Amino acid sequence: MNFELTEEQSLVQLMARDFAKDRIEPHALKWDQDKHFPKEVVAEMADLGFMGMMVPDSYGGSETGAITYALALQEIAHADAGIAVTMSVTNLCGEPILRHGTEEQKLTYLTPLASGEKLGAFCITEPESGSDAGSLRTKAELKGDHYVLSGVKQFITNSSFADIFIVMARTSEGGGTRGISAFIVEKNFKGLSVGSVEDKMGLRTSNTTEIIFDNCKVPKKNLIGKEGEGFKVAMSALDSGRIGIASQSLGIARACLDEARSYAQSRRQFNRQLSGFQAIQWMLADMATSIAAAHHLTLHAAYLKDQNKKIIKEASMAKLFASESLQKIAYDAVQIFGGYGYMKDYKIEKLYRDARVTTIYEGTSEIQRLVIARETLKEST
Ligand code: CAA
Repeated sequence: MNFELTEEQSLVQLMARDFAKDRIEPHALKWDQDKHFPKEVVAEMADLGFMGMMVPDSYGGSETGAITYALALQEIAHADAGIAVTMSVTNLCGEPILRHGTEEQKLTYLTPLASGEKLGAFCITEPESGSDAGSLRTKAELKGDHYVLSGVKQFITNSSFADIFIVMARTSEGGGTRGISAFIVEKNFKGLSVGSVEDKMGLRTSNTTEIIFDNCKVPKKNLIGKEGEGFKVAMSALDSGRIGIASQSLGIARACLDEARSYAQSRRQFNRQLSGFQAIQWMLADMATSIAAAHHLTLHAAYLKDQNKKIIKEASMAKLFASESLQKIAYDAVQIFGGYGYMKDYKIEKLYRDARVTTIYEGTSEIQRLVIARETLKEST
């Protein structure tokens, strides 16, 4: 077993760290206050190859692999978790096309996504269908050489700025999850409209809206895989997506520890630095231990992905552990700051808000446990 990063992995990690420190970190608080989506920074990340890290060069990607992706995403999230989710969702959108798309779909849609020329959005969630993704109601009816899509998707990341939408819709009533198909929809297809921008608690630099499909005509050739296979296409993409959210959680957690440590070393109470009190030392020790454990779980899931092995259980474990640990880390970090941690002038207040969604999206912690339990029960002793 080798725990060392390769030279390429270390270089990309360093490049992402420098970029995040230089181009994101100084502006993150202001952008958060202004709910600003920094398009120019996202474009620069695309130039660095961060939008297609699992995609071969022949389709516009940097193909650095899942471990490198997890490391780079952590660095971006350390500076701003909202920008990290923009990167994560764009990589997520490439997955279904890379794994199940036709050559024409790869050339037309994967290439601009992976090169970062265009942004993607992943549309599965609906107002009445969140954790129970298989109950989605958006309809896709085949009429001649087009499918006609009608329905509403909710909480869609990137949507105001995305050009390419991966959309799960129902092609057969009563078919359960086997009645769902996956489509590629372009922003300018007639009948697609973008709703108003959500005012979120955290991740305020990321863009979230509803997407409305009103008799939106989608060419038959934009079906991904076969009709009725869309749920599996979506689920396998989300397995990879969960490595992304685990990495994002880790980036936020590391930022919390960095903030808490430096505050504890500078703040004095009772004539001593806070870091001299055992109560504070134990908090820092628990943070560092959880981060190390989450890091190993996440890189292990990424390693398996790079080996083309099954990652359902490992990706869910990484996402569950990293996001749940983060809640305690962010809570304790604010506790160390005391009253200052409750003020918007301090980065820790933003980190606390950004942390909250990580146990909710790309599958709640309850869904991760369900997935892990199902996979564990399949294993024999
Ligand atoms: N890979 C491939 N196939 C899979 C799979 C996977 N990971 N998981 C399930 N499947 C297959 C099953 O094998 C089954 O196949 P058969 O029909 O051949 O038997 C089929 O899909 C149905 O699976 P289940 O019976 O497990 O379906 P279910 O309805 O009981 O539960 C679930 C599935 C795990 C609960 C799923 O609904 C789920 O993950 N829910 C959470 C939804 C989610 O993560 N949403 C995230 C939204 S995207 C987002 O947040 C992005 C963003 O903006 C940040």
